[in-house]
Amino acid sequence: MDPYRNPFAPGAGSRPPELAGRSAILDMARISCGRALKGRNARSIMLLGLRGVGKTVLLNEIGRNAEQEGLLVSRVESPEGESLARLIFPEMRKVLRSLSSVAAAKHLATRGLNGLRNFASIFKIEMAGVEVGVEPEPGLAETGDLQYDLPDLFILIGKAAQAAGRGWLLLIDEVQYLSEADLSALIVSLHRISQDGLPVLMVGAGLPQIARLAGEAKSYSERLFQYPSVGPLDPVSAGQAIEKPVLEEEASITPEALQTIVERTKGYPFFIQEWASVVWDNSEGPEITYAEVDHSYAETLARLDEGFFKVRIDRLTKAEVQFVKAMAQLGDGPYAMADVAKSMGRTQSSLGPVRASVISKGMIYSSDHGYLDFTVPLFDEFMRRQS
Ligand SMILES: Nc1ncnc2c1ncn2[C@@H]1O[C@H](COP(=O)(O)OP(=O)(O)O)[C@@H](O)[C@H]1O
Ligand SMILES: [Mg+2]
Repeated sequence: MDPYRNPFAPGAGSRPPELAGRSAILDMARISCGRALKGRNARSIMLLGLRGVGKTVLLNEIGRNAEQEGLLVSRVESPEGESLARLIFPEMRKVLRSLSSVAAAKHLATRGLNGLRNFASIFKIEMAGVEVGVEPEPGLAETGDLQYDLPDLFILIGKAAQAAGRGWLLLIDEVQYLSEADLSALIVSLHRISQDGLPVLMVGAGLPQIARLAGEAKSYSERLFQYPSVGPLDPVSAGQAIEKPVLEEEASITPEALQTIVERTKGYPFFIQEWASVVWDNSEGPEITYAEVDHSYAETLARLDEGFFKVRIDRLTKAEVQFVKAMAQLGDGPYAMADVAKSMGRTQSSLGPVRASVISKGMIYSSDHGYLDFTVPLFDEFMRRQS
């Protein structure tokens, strides 16, 4: 069918044509935002899930909804090795500037901007442009320890937002790349905010390992956060994700064809979008048939192998590739470290460093009870296709 009308054509970070099966999480976020705006105790949210399940598009959707409800929304993505101070600084500045234009909040926002100047100087962040009316304010956000300085600023933002009748939602993607100290500072800040009933919330997203990280970082994080897990779509939602956009383009898909995609993708959104896109382009139309779906399978896998899967493995060294290969050869995960070591003819302790570096690259994670698993769904099958 006409590729110009392909509703599944991939676009980076774009909203899927049908955001299926996530209403419970969207409602949870809506309630938290609504409560925060009313000065009620509201829990922040940490979305946990493997790669390609739809965490980023959910964050974006939550942000859009929150904006409509009157919150100021900031969005940061944590790249490997970047400090939170640097990431979050421009966002805090934007929010404070925008609040300083509201008469009722001007005084507090200006104090916040003063604190932010101290913050920038102690954390060696370059500030372009001169702040209007900013005076040095000793004692505010200038210890150089994020655990103390970030809460100062969050509280001023919260108070200014409250005075303006607004709220602040901070979205942080790829939370697993934050250092433990940064994550801990963030949690302390949110804790202070919640004690004071200020309208500030965070919605984060990251790999499943962060639930544990946050637990270690601060024991009270369990009360501060809700941890909804973002997994594959259930069969009904997966079907909707495919069929609705097709119908909207005045095409259709046979039940058998639909079921085949739902079953073989196991409901994984990245796989669904890719397959639906390939079959759309390959289909005669206006009805997508089982034969066309089946025919498009090999091409879909080849595209995923060349794109989605390959970019992940390209980031690994040779030794790291051998390690993940050994994992994949054991079949489906999770994998016991002892088994991986045994199949490589190595001791567990000699593999410690490579295991740690593959984890830090976000390729595998250590699940409960010390088992290892891939952060990319179906990655084991991909690895086995390679050899
Ligand atoms: N609920 C959903 N329904 C349909 N497609 C989805 C859904 N969530 C995500 N997708 C699609 O899946 C792919 C991966 O989504 P993304 O948000 O980048 O995943 P993650 O951030 O978890 O790695 C994208 O193509 C996206 O459009
Ligand atoms: Mg993402």
